[in-house]
Amino acid sequence: MEPKVTKFDLIILGASGFTGKYVLKEALKFLNNSSQSQSPLNSIAIAGRNPTKLSQTLNWASNPNSPPTITILPADTSDPSSLRSLCSQTRLILNCVGPFRLHGETVVSACVDSGCDYLDICGEPEFMERMESDYHDRAGETGSLVVSACGFDSVPAELGLLFNSLQWVGPAVPNRVEAYVSLESRKRIVGNFATYESAVLGVANAKDLQAFRRSRPRRRPRPQVTQF
Ligand SMILES: NC(=O)c1ccc[n+]([C@@H]2O[C@H](COP(=O)([O-])OP(=O)(O)OC[C@H]3O[C@@H](n4cnc5c(N)ncnc54)[C@H](OP(=O)(O)O)[C@@H]3O)[C@@H](O)[C@H]2O)c1
Repeated sequence: MEPKVTKFDLIILGASGFTGKYVLKEALKFLNNSSQSQSPLNSIAIAGRNPTKLSQTLNWASNPNSPPTITILPADTSDPSSLRSLCSQTRLILNCVGPFRLHGETVVSACVDSGCDYLDICGEPEFMERMESDYHDRAGETGSLVVSACGFDSVPAELGLLFNSLQWVGPAVPNRVEAYVSLESRKRIVGNFATYESAVLGVANAKDLQAFRRSRPRRRPRPQVTQF
């Protein structure tokens, strides 16, 4: 499939949030400029429902430099037309709006319909599994790549599993891996309201996830990772 020609390489949706602002700060480091001419990121935009807050976030993320010229786009996850508009302008949406069980599906749906790629920081298994179940076939048709779980919840466990798997000498393979993460920081480790809300809703709806998994076709067993 021919790559889509778009105005932006990446749009960060929900950049004004607690996590989104750090995502923007990191993205700015990779934005192509004279000192980093090899970067694949030539143009990014940020999107959300509050342009003033987004503009303040851009100032914060650029500090101590002056903010680069970055387009701020209006978008609300409850307004599908605003999401379609984002998708028409970019190759990739990086979604930082949660809880994903409340706000994520409209974004996935808009991306899949338009063939735009989708990336998020979701840590909610039910959302991820439902999206795979409901949108996998359509995403295959439109060429949209939908990748979830690119946050701290998930990446250390994935890397740990990968590292562990590489230590095994064939034909032996691990069939279960138990993992734990230990955090040490001189600074206070904090999460914001939406992170807390996502965790509470995940626990409150744990039975729905079990029921959903039971309703899905069985797959061949794969190595399991248990996080503590
Ligand atoms: N996997 C991980 O390791 C990991 C790590 C951190 C966070 N997370 C997840 O990321 C999500 C965000 O967490 P957070 O703590 O950063 O939340 P937050 O600070 O409350 O930020 C939420 C962001 O979403 C935006 N937003 C809310 N409703 C919206 C809507 N209807 N349309 C468009 N934008 C909307 C907010 O915009 P306004 O500025 O307009 O309010 C804000 O930018 C949560 O689901 C959390 O669980 C995952």
